[in-house]
Parts: sequence; C-alpha cells; structure tokens
Amino acid sequence: MSNSIGLVILSAGQGVRLKMKVPKPLAPALGKCLVDFPVTESFRFIEQNKLQGEISLVTGHMREDVEKYVNENYPNKPITYAYQEKQLGTAHALRCYFEQVPQASKFDYTVVLCADTPLIRAHDLSQLYLYLQAQNLDGVAATFVDKNPKGYGRIVRSEKAFHIVEEKDASDEIRKITEVNSGLYILKTSFILKHLNNIDSKNKSGEFYLTDLFKDHFNVAPLLFENPETFIGVNTLRHLEDVERILTLEKTAQLRDEGVRFLQSTSCYIDWEVTIGEGSIVQPNVMMTGKCKIGKQVSIGAGSVLKNAVIEDGAVIKPYTVIENGIIRAEAEIGPFARIRPDSDIGPKSKIGNFVETKKVKLEKGVKVSHLSYVGDAEVGEESNLGCGFITCNYDGAKKHKTKIGKNCFIGSDSQMIAPIEIGDNCYVGSGSTINKSMPAGSFAIARARQETKEGLAQRFIKKKE
Ligand code: UD1
Ligand code: CA
Repeated sequence: MSNSIGLVILSAGQGVRLKMKVPKPLAPALGKCLVDFPVTESFRFIEQNKLQGEISLVTGHMREDVEKYVNENYPNKPITYAYQEKQLGTAHALRCYFEQVPQASKFDYTVVLCADTPLIRAHDLSQLYLYLQAQNLDGVAATFVDKNPKGYGRIVRSEKAFHIVEEKDASDEIRKITEVNSGLYILKTSFILKHLNNIDSKNKSGEFYLTDLFKDHFNVAPLLFENPETFIGVNTLRHLEDVERILTLEKTAQLRDEGVRFLQSTSCYIDWEVTIGEGSIVQPNVMMTGKCKIGKQVSIGAGSVLKNAVIEDGAVIKPYTVIENGIIRAEAEIGPFARIRPDSDIGPKSKIGNFVETKKVKLEKGVKVSHLSYVGDAEVGEESNLGCGFITCNYDGAKKHKTKIGKNCFIGSDSQMIAPIEIGDNCYVGSGSTINKSMPAGSFAIARARQETKEGLAQRFIKKKE
C-alpha cells in the first residue's frame, strides 16, 4: 500500500508589512494568490509520488476570506481547515492542525509548508521526501545558504547532529552561520505527535517554535538546497516583486519551450494562466492578464495590454493596443493604438485601425474600421467598410441603442448613425452623413447640407495681416 501523507500549509499570518487590504495568503502574484502556489504544488507532489494525501490550511487572520477563496478555486479537492485564533507560534499552529483535523494523526508523514513561499515546487518536496525515506529519518528540514541570513533560524551542525536556533535566541557566533532554515519540513507523524506537546514557549519571543522539533538527539537532518531563491518568503513588497520577477522568468521559459518567441521576455508581465500557441511572437513591454488565450502564429505588438482576451490563430495585434474581454478571430488585424472594450467579437480577417474604439460589437468576417472611429452596441455584416471617423451614436443620455449594418456596405468617412437603426445589405452612405433613419438593402443615402460655391468671394473672408 502506498504511503499516506498530510500536507499542512501555515496560513494564519496577517502580512502587516505588505500593507494590503487582503491577508497575506491572498496577496496577488501573476494573477494568482500566494496561497495558490503551495496548494497546487502539494497536489502535484501527491500525484507524482502516488501517495494518499490530503491538504490542510491553518488559517487565522481573515480566515473567512482565505477559506472562501480556496474553496471556490479548488472545488471537489480534499482540503480541510484548522483555525488558529491567536498566532502563538509555528508549533502552536501545528497543534491546532492536529487538534482540529481528526485524520491528520493517521497519515504516515506530515509536510509543513508556509502560505508565503510560492516558489517551492513539487520536485523540491519530492527531493525532501525521498531523502527522509532513504535515510530513514524522523524529520528533515530544507535549508539554504544566505549571505545575509538576518531573520532566519540558523542551522547549527555538529558531527552527525544538528539543531535550529532562531535569530532572536542566537549568540553572536551562531548568528554568523549562513545556512538557514527554510520553514519547509517533512516529518513522520508519529514523531511529531510524540514531541509536539512538549514544546514550550521559553524563548526570547515567547512563541511556540516548530523548530524545537529539530534537536541534536533526535533522528533528524537538514537537507541543503542549492538555489536560495526557491525559498523566498513574501514578507515585504520588495519580496513580492522579487517573487513575481522569478515567476515571470519561469512562465516565459515555459512558453518559450512551447514555441513562443519573445523579443524581450523580461519586460513582459504575463499571468500564470495565460496560454500562447506555438509560432507566436511577443514584442517588448506586453502585459497579458487574467485568462488570456492566444492562438498559434499570433503577433502581439509592443506595449499592448490584454486582459481576458481570446486571440485566434494568425491574428496580428499591432503596438499599443488595449483589449479587455474581447475575442479577436483568426487573421484579424488590430491597432496600432486601438481599444477593444468588453464583449467585442472581431471577425476573421477584419481590420481595426488606429484610434478605433469598440464595445459590445459583433463584426463579421472581413469588416474594416481603419481609422478614428467609435463602434458600440453594433452588429456589422461581412466585408462592410466603415470609413474614417465613423461613429455609432448609441447613447441617448439614459439608454443604449443598437446599430445594425448589413454585409458589403460602404459607409463613407465622417458618418454617424443615430441608434436604434438598421442598415440593410449592400448599402452606400455618402461621406459626412448623419443617418437617423433605417435603410433598406441596396439603398444609397446622403445626409449633409448641400454645398454652395460663390466665385471670387473668398477675398472678403481672408483677413490681411497688419
Ligand atoms: C520561521 C522559522 C525560521 C525560518 C523561517 C523561514 C520558526 C520558529 N521559525 O520563522 O526558523 O528560518 O520561518 O521563513 O518556525 N504562522 C502561523 N501561525 C503562527 C505563526 C506563524 O500560521 O502562530 C505562519 C505564518 O503565517 C507564516 C509561517 O507560519 O506563513 C511562518 O511564520 P513566521 O512568523 O513568518 O516565521 P519566521 O519568524 O519567519
Ligand atoms: Ca517568515
């Protein structure tokens, strides 16, 4: 039978130094929350090692918010909660877990993680787990070397033994040690249960230290990890920025492996869940957030900002385009400097040019809106051309109204359509028209003042300079 394992994520902290309205586990990073990373990696670890496992969170500060978020984002997953009303220390947090989660004591092993270390991956957990088993230890602590170890618990090694001393309780000599405790541990559950209640708070902080499980006379060991970045804990906004930078490197490397070419990946901000198909090119300074889904052979121009955008194969998004909750169909061309607002559906091979704004539109195949236009609450049929400066007058001050334009229409430059209005297929509107009556298919309309030309009269209007 496979081994069983309980993974507990300590998430009771407030994160005062982040100065955010949300509790630390819900601090954002690449469109996810910090707590998402240990949760997903824990599930991955269980799966990869074919373990029987369950995940628990010890919550405290704003626990309702944390629990609501996790429940909504991981439905049908085995996640339980323990409540730690007062944060009396990491060992106390673990006590709350064993007291409130009945099955916790039955698992062979227990993994302790923190909600604020989002760079730990399933393979790191596996490495730690395999080491514990290979050495038949009761507990193993992941450690790393930090030239500036301030704030961390220090790893005090002696021949065949080791223990952890918290910074506050450390002598000057021990403070010089650069190998530090990461806060990630795997232990035999029976070992924890034997010793957890003996931990006291007789130390400089008056807290119950989980690190007291690592004593010289116990069968425990440290495992030194090479890359200290793995264990960055988010305590300040500076840490959060570091973490997002490293996550971005990870994300763009993954996309590159899948065939995406970045002209300068380090200048881009791409949320964790964004997908991009092979053969696509991303120019510098691009931001893609939320659930952007980018197809194959797409080009995303410099400085573009995309949120929840779906871009189909072969589309070209030219520089400085903003798209929010819109769908751009295959081989369409958008921008430069276009703004695609929510619920825009831009048909295949359509063209949206510079300084064009769309909102709640359905444009069919091959529609062209090339310059300086506003198209809102509208439907436009195949191959219609809306000239420069075209405007849908969709708002009467109280309500929005719809404009429908059929296929193969030619709408001259500087025209307005006062909605509600319906223009049939194959219509032609002369430039500078203000159209306020619907037009049947095949009709022509012109609605502008007739021109009068008076010969020789210009002289009267041309002012002479003194
Ligand atoms: C802890 C370790 C230290 C290690 C460091 C790594 C102890 C005593 N010390 O110190 O050796 O180098 O992590 O970052 O464990 N938490 C609770 N309830 C509590 C206290 C903490 O849930 O009562 C949670 C926090 O929200 C956080 C995690 O536990 O996610 C770690 O707590 P923190 O106070 O940051 O511990 P450190 O002092 O950093
Ligand atoms: Ca910490």
